[in-house]
Amino acid sequence: MRKPTPHPSGAKPPKLSKNLIPNHVAVVMDGNGRWAKQRGLPRTAGHEAGEAALFDLVEGAIEIGVKEISAFAFSTENWKRSPEEVKFLMGFNRDVIRRRLDDMHELGVRVRWAGRDRKLWKSVIDELERAEKLTVKNKVLTLNMCVNYGGQAELVDAMQKIADLIKSKKLSPDQITEKTILANLYEPKIQPVDLFIRSSGEQRTSNFLPWQSVYAEMVFMDVLWPDVTRKTLWKAIEEYNKRDRRFGKA
Ligand code: FPP
Repeated sequence: MRKPTPHPSGAKPPKLSKNLIPNHVAVVMDGNGRWAKQRGLPRTAGHEAGEAALFDLVEGAIEIGVKEISAFAFSTENWKRSPEEVKFLMGFNRDVIRRRLDDMHELGVRVRWAGRDRKLWKSVIDELERAEKLTVKNKVLTLNMCVNYGGQAELVDAMQKIADLIKSKKLSPDQITEKTILANLYEPKIQPVDLFIRSSGEQRTSNFLPWQSVYAEMVFMDVLWPDVTRKTLWKAIEEYNKRDRRFGKA
């Protein structure tokens, strides 16, 4: 096990009591393409630059005490991008997991995959499953890699599983509750999202974790993903603490 490496600037997380730290942070890594375009580089160079941002954020999450991060690494809608970019992102996801796995394990990070297997490259699934197996006992933080993930696809797949249970008489329709839906999602153990962040200034969720984010606080940040650091996360957590979370209560 190793402790997180401090940020090169020497920055330390704000001191907040435990109840002020979001348990689960969902992250939409947006703006890689624009970051690359500003520099006259291909979009893929932006994705490459975005890798360091994700793993700096993970170290900063551990430092401040966040227990779960969900990263939107490839969506079920991203197949609509150019064949070249899709091919790049598939290989990139596989290589990022492979490259970072030992270090994540050292940090005590548990890696999980949430997503649809249909269409996803087998080499990506193999790498994700290897990561899940190696890190299954880690408890410092859980990193949900959402690869070939779409919130609507997740609900469709859950409905199909529930319909099969009904067909085989293992369940009756009046027994369906929120718990039944949750149990049939890709990763039933994913906790409710407390803080949902998106970089690049776009203010939408783009089909990311809709079931899990119903009471999430949304923080949209005007920074392109490759420029994100753990300090961006800490700032978002300070914003989160200005919010009044009522969960429907008066
Ligand atoms: C969602 O916005 C963004 C994603 C699904 C992430 C795309 C992948 C990367 C940025 C690669 C980064 C991966 C790693 C491992 C560092 P969208 O662009 O699908 O949504 P929109 O079309 O609504 O803007």
